[in-house]
Formats: sequence, structure tokens, C-alpha cells
Amino acid sequence: MFTIDTTRSRPFITDQEWKEARNSILKSSADLDARNGKGTEWLGWQDILKSPNDALLETMETIGSDIHRNADVFIICGIGGSYLGAKAVIDALIPEFQEEGPEIIYAGHQISGRYLKRLLDWLEKPKADGRKKEVYLNVISKSGTTMETAIAFRELRTWMHKTYGDDAITRIFCTTSKEGGALNKIIKAFGYRKFILPADIGGRFSVLTPVGLLPIAAAGIDVKRLYYGAVEAYRNLENSRDNLLDYTTARYALYSKGYSVDLLATFEPALVSMGGWLQQLYGESEGKNGKGLFPSVAQYSTDLHSLGQMVQDGKRNIIETFLTIQNPGQTMRVSPDPRNYDGLNYLADKSMEFINDKAFQGTVIAHQEGGVPILIGTLDKLDAESIGQAIYYFELATAIFVYSLGENPFDQPGVEAYKKAMYELLGKED
Ligand code: PA5
Repeated sequence: MFTIDTTRSRPFITDQEWKEARNSILKSSADLDARNGKGTEWLGWQDILKSPNDALLETMETIGSDIHRNADVFIICGIGGSYLGAKAVIDALIPEFQEEGPEIIYAGHQISGRYLKRLLDWLEKPKADGRKKEVYLNVISKSGTTMETAIAFRELRTWMHKTYGDDAITRIFCTTSKEGGALNKIIKAFGYRKFILPADIGGRFSVLTPVGLLPIAAAGIDVKRLYYGAVEAYRNLENSRDNLLDYTTARYALYSKGYSVDLLATFEPALVSMGGWLQQLYGESEGKNGKGLFPSVAQYSTDLHSLGQMVQDGKRNIIETFLTIQNPGQTMRVSPDPRNYDGLNYLADKSMEFINDKAFQGTVIAHQEGGVPILIGTLDKLDAESIGQAIYYFELATAIFVYSLGENPFDQPGVEAYKKAMYELLGKED
């Protein structure tokens, strides 16, 4: 079961600070359970795990495996909570280099014309055997109005209709709210297949709805195992929350005494996008009324050669949260070399996982000695079930922590400010 070890943060927190933070966190946890905190109309992310919808999982699996089988390219068109969860799971579980399954491409997550043009050129380019690419598209937008996603979808669906004619509607899948938004008008006009994101689940809490499940299934991942991993975490955390309450207590105590940055780091490249998902979950949930820990993502040991100096020795306002894997397996060993010019023979026959783990342990020791409180989250394995467990753990931790900040974890009013200024500059009328 996914847990977070707070031992290496405790030297930075006095008993009194711990006690005060704990009281606040216990109250937040109780408020959430009693459903009398802020934003209680947004707790559907818990309800879907309390009563799993197996028929929905079945549908996701069936359509996902059709796409997986037939697509050369599968495009996930969405921004923020509409794509980060799927990307986190896909990057964690799909091998970086493989021929099996569709090429997965993201779109609608920025406004770069260069990117979109290159993407359309890439779709147009025939396969090695001269045949045209089989392209499938999943557009995801809860509001159905987000400009980044809407522009990309307009261009992509136009390309799809031009390329496949009437068949385009069998290749385009839309995930949005039950009603409202421009996307619903488009779905109605063209007859695309639609999946619904329930009204009581916000974008960044939606990875276990069709928002995340369809793209994850299309990538070839077992969505039932992912989902039931989260269900298991839900049930366990309904029984006992001690570990999660320790984690949120440590984080809240550190925040309360002035720490302002939470660096989400991992030594496993496959987990970096989990950091990206968590960055949004924490960032949009916490960052309100001058409050919250700024979430940042680091890939180690790569970033030890860029951010490492700052973490070790810069302004002492950083806490570090690691994502690790208990059983990473053993993939390859360092080869012995009789000449040993590079002096690496002391590592000969050692597994890369062993070396990476020592790098992790050494970094933890150094950073803690340098004044950085450390929190260590551990997945049992790099598999769908463990990722599902971690997803629910972090969702619950977010809600409880943000209640202690006195804020609503489920809205994001600040995101509107840039949109308003941008629309004014663009001359949007309504
Ligand atoms: O968490 C959220 O609600 C946001 O990040 C949204 O997911 C993001 O802004 C995209 O919105 P939409 O799905 O409405 O296009």
C-alpha cells in the first residue's frame, strides 16, 4: 500500500508545532468525512471509489482496446486536469521505447502554432509502407470552452474529416460535462461519441473518470487494476488514516513555520509525470489568498546537476517529497571491463537499480543535513495498482491539507484572471 515516511521531516518540527498541526489536520479530516467543509458539492472523486462503476470500466476497456489495436497515432487533446492524470499514468507504465501500441501525442495543452502545425504535418506524413496513418482523437474538456483545447480540437477535427470523411466520427471521442459548453454543441452537431465527467468531480480530481480512463485504456494499460488500486486505498484509508495524517501533519507544520516550496522529486524518470499531476493537484488546490506551498517537480539525478546546489545550499524554505518504488526490479547490471579506463569496475555486476537507490539514499542524507525536511512516498511496485493507490492517497491528502489552510480545495478562481486579460486583448465579445 502506498505510504509516505515522515521520519526525516520530524527533526525540523518541534513537539508543540506537531501537536498544533495535528489538531488542525484531525479537524480537517473530520470535516471532510462529515461533508461539512468547503466545496462539499465536489466530493464525487470519493463516491466513485465507494461504489465502483464496473460497467463504465468495461466500456473504457472495450473502446480503449479498439483504439489501441487500430490506431497508429492517438491524440489526447486537453489541458490541466483534463490531461495531466492520463499522462502521469501513461508515462509511468508504458515503456519509453516500444513499437507496440499507438504513438501517443498530446495537443490542446498550449497555444503554440508551431507545435500544432508540426503535429498536423506529422499526421499527414504517410507510414513507412506508404499508407496513411490511422489517427484517433480524444478531446477532453469539462467546461467545453477552454481556448487552448478548443483551438487544437477545431484544427484536428477538420483534419480528421478531410482525411477520413464520414469515418472521422468513429475516430473522435469527446469527454465533457453532461450539459453546457461549446463542446456539447459540437458533439451534437457532428454525432461524436461522448463520455461524461460527473458534475461533482473537478478536473484535477478526475483521472479515475472517463477523463483519464479512456486515454489510459487506449494506451494499453489495465484500467481495472488502476481503478481497483484506488478503491483499495480508499477502503484502507477509511479504516485507518494514520500514515496519511502524519504526512499532512508534517507538511502543514512545515508550511505553518514558513517553508514555502515543496519539491516533488524522483529518481525514476517514469514517475516524473506523476510529479506533474501532483504539481497541478497541489498548485490549484492550495494556491489561494496568499497561501500554499509552491509545488515544483524535479527529476533526479538529472536535476541534481541543475537544482541540486539550490536544494542543498540555497534559501532554506524548501521541503522535498520523494516518489520511490519499493521493488523496482532489476533490469540491467554494469558490465565488467578488463581495461577499467573509466574506473567503474567497483560497480561491475551491480544492478542499475542498486546504484540509483544508493544515489537516492545519499541525496536524502545530504539534503537533510543541508536543512531540507524530507518526505518519502513509496509505491510497492511500478504497476497500475500501486499508481491507483497513490492517486487516491494524494487526492485525500490534498483535500485535508487545504481544509487546514481554510480554503476550498476544489475551485481555482485564480485561473480566470489570465483568461480575462487574454480575452480582453483578443477582443472576445462575451
Ligand atoms: O483542475 C481543473 O479543473 C483545471 O485544471 C481544468 O482541468 C483545466 O483548466 C481544463 O479545463 P477544462 O477541462 O474545462 O477544459
